[in-house]
Amino acid sequence: MASKIEIKPIGKKDTEWVKETTREKFGADFIFDAGKKKYPYKLPGFIAYLGNEKIGVLTYEIMNGSCEIVTIESLKEKISIGSLLLKKLKETAINENCRRIWLITTNDNLSALNFYQKRGFNISNVYPNAVTKTRETVKPEIPLYGENGIEIKDEIELELKI
Ligand SMILES: CC(C)(COP(=O)(O)OP(=O)(O)OC[C@H]1O[C@@H](n2cnc3c(N)ncnc32)[C@H](O)[C@@H]1OP(=O)(O)O)[C@@H](O)C(=O)NCCC(=O)NCCS
Repeated sequence: MASKIEIKPIGKKDTEWVKETTREKFGADFIFDAGKKKYPYKLPGFIAYLGNEKIGVLTYEIMNGSCEIVTIESLKEKISIGSLLLKKLKETAINENCRRIWLITTNDNLSALNFYQKRGFNISNVYPNAVTKTRETVKPEIPLYGENGIEIKDEIELELKI
């Protein structure tokens, strides 16, 4: 399966799809973490394809030698989409002379915590109740509970030194 998946850069024609995919997963066309509102559809990134079907997306932002994974989403989990998107991002970050790749996830997101730590990322910061604050102020769309029935409260930052 992995050999049939192609990773291509997000193009202008994909803007609406990225916006809609973000809205479906994250409840709005923006995300808010590390104290900032971010619009994935305005960012560079990659789309995973199986034939003509879009099956995953990653958006990122490079700033001051750090590459942030703003969103990553597999529309079909556990067939290597996430790993292939991450591999492509790593190549890009190295080409852009980044020193690290980082991201924010939430305390309930066990699949993301598993995924990143098994791929060399370390927890670099924890922001207790950051999501609770965001829900109360900027983004009421954030659900109270995550998919594992765990209350979504904290932001967890992970990083990979490259
Ligand atoms: C986190 C996330 C991106 C991982 O993506 P994914 O496409 O499932 O990732 P992969 O398929 O590459 O790897 C997931 C697991 O499937 C396994 N896998 C991959 N291909 C497989 C196959 N053909 N058969 C069996 N297992 C397979 C991998 O080994 C991996 O397991 P491991 O981490 O225990 O080694 C995905 O769970 C997701 O989209 N979550 C929702 C959005 C989200 O929370 N994003 C993160 C917020 S920052």
